[in-house]
Amino acid sequence: MSVTVRVPAKVNVQLAVGAARADGFHDLANVFLAVGLYDEITVTPADELRVTCEGPDAAQVPLDRSNLAARAALVLAERYDRDARVHLHIAKDIPVAGGMAGGSADGAGALLACDTLWGIGAPRGELLDICAELGSDVPFSLVGGAALGTGRGEKLTPLEVGGTFHWVFAMAGRGLSTPAVFREFDRLGEGLDIPEPVASEALLDALAAGDPGALAATVSNDLQPAALSLFPELADTLAAGRGAGALAALVSGSGPTTAFLVRDRGAAETVAEALRASGTCRTVRVATAPAAGATVL
Ligand code: C5P
Repeated sequence: MSVTVRVPAKVNVQLAVGAARADGFHDLANVFLAVGLYDEITVTPADELRVTCEGPDAAQVPLDRSNLAARAALVLAERYDRDARVHLHIAKDIPVAGGMAGGSADGAGALLACDTLWGIGAPRGELLDICAELGSDVPFSLVGGAALGTGRGEKLTPLEVGGTFHWVFAMAGRGLSTPAVFREFDRLGEGLDIPEPVASEALLDALAAGDPGALAATVSNDLQPAALSLFPELADTLAAGRGAGALAALVSGSGPTTAFLVRDRGAAETVAEALRASGTCRTVRVATAPAAGATVL
């Protein structure tokens, strides 16, 4: 018997970052939007805990206990006294180290898959607590849709989305480490007065209205200067997408994936084609949002 769970990627339409806290984390006002690029996690009873991965980026995925899918299985087994000897297989379509919560998706997916396989049926709140333990973005991977994340991003308030948004994503030739990007944010902000992060009312209104023009006018990412500082070539990718008519161009989360908001499916194809032709990125994908959270197939 096995269970498969599908989990979406995310883009941050607003990522407001506060000053570093005493614990090294940063308070955020993080507006997550789930997008229709997915990883699928399949769990099957096995002789030992084992992780395998397939997909274009599979070689970069750690298969030991540092993998969030393995950690999710171990934490759930420990909490509910189950046997963690399972085979976790990840069919990976979300870019690795890309700023689209691919690792978090696998953690949330493995958690829901094991909960189902083991017949636990843990309360949603319990699953969300375990997700928050695994990482700041993992709770959102479980719930999907759109949400405001506060604290270090793990405290979620669901948000209304009034329509379908069309996106193009450009995957870069290498990854960026999230801790390294936050460290660069700290370095660039040294000596500056960093305001408390707050969600933009105009942006929340644009999401609720399903209005891509209004959303494009309000998207922002405080980590973008840090990501560009570590990966300057991303500026060329952003320029290529803007030049092809994207309504907005931004780095997704800590990057280096770049995200382009467009008006409709036709514009998505035009921008995707221009990005492919620009030679400034590795692959280009088109996706719509919002997408549902982790779902048992
Ligand atoms: O929570 P998660 O393990 O995904 O975070 C990865 C790293 O990103 C943290 O170790 C920290 O360096 C940085 N981070 C942060 N502030 C946040 C979220 C993440 O500094 N709110």
